Amino acid sequence: MTGSLFPRDRDRAELGTGAVHVPGWLDFDAQRGIVEACRQWAIGPVPMRAAVLPGGHPMSVQTVCLGWHWQPYKYTRTADDVGGGRVAEVPDWLITLGRRALAEAYGAPGQPGYAPELWKPEDYTPDTALINYYAHGAHMGMHQDKDEKSSAPVVSLSIGDTCIFRFGNTSTRTKPYTDIELGSGDLFVFGGPSRFAYHGVPKTLPGTADPDCGLAQGRINITLRMTGMS
Ligand code: SIN
Ligand code: MN
Repeated sequence: MTGSLFPRDRDRAELGTGAVHVPGWLDFDAQRGIVEACRQWAIGPVPMRAAVLPGGHPMSVQTVCLGWHWQPYKYTRTADDVGGGRVAEVPDWLITLGRRALAEAYGAPGQPGYAPELWKPEDYTPDTALINYYAHGAHMGMHQDKDEKSSAPVVSLSIGDTCIFRFGNTSTRTKPYTDIELGSGDLFVFGGPSRFAYHGVPKTLPGTADPDCGLAQGRINITLRMTGMS
């Protein structure tokens, strides 16, 4: 399966309670629209950059943020490491998409299997989005998303090249973990007991994206989050 071109027959999977993978959730129109929005956000008002880790090494992934500016390991209103400007707001359409993503993953009122204990879609108002671009060779080490003061789920959208996504456990960055492929248009949600699971991207698989997605090279990942900050 690894390296397969344009896989379309993958199944929805639950990797743990609250961790749901929905392959091919975004159609190509939606993917192209998001890619175009990302191109604009990458220019500014705060340009996309490689965040620098505390040891002084830049990440291999490039990031631009909405709502709140993230740098390891904090959120600030102004992008103090990238010129001091204020990042663009999270647009309403992206908040709505985040709510639809939660309804897809955890169900909605009146639907069989609705899991409001994980999070109710109507209570999901992401106030930040981290847009990551993976050029060929970029990767992300195992980490927890724990700079947020809220335990609201993280909604992850992928466009472009397929990656290997490693989803682990909440206590150690090592095994047990599961490797899955996140392809273009895939949704992954992690919340509830899985919210603070370690996860990472060991590698992307260049040349695996269908050009109809709107991205000729590399991989975009958007994570929507609630910071719990005001
Ligand atoms: C992240 O962990 O913030 C990004 C994950 C991904 O690129 O799929
Ligand atoms: Mn993360």
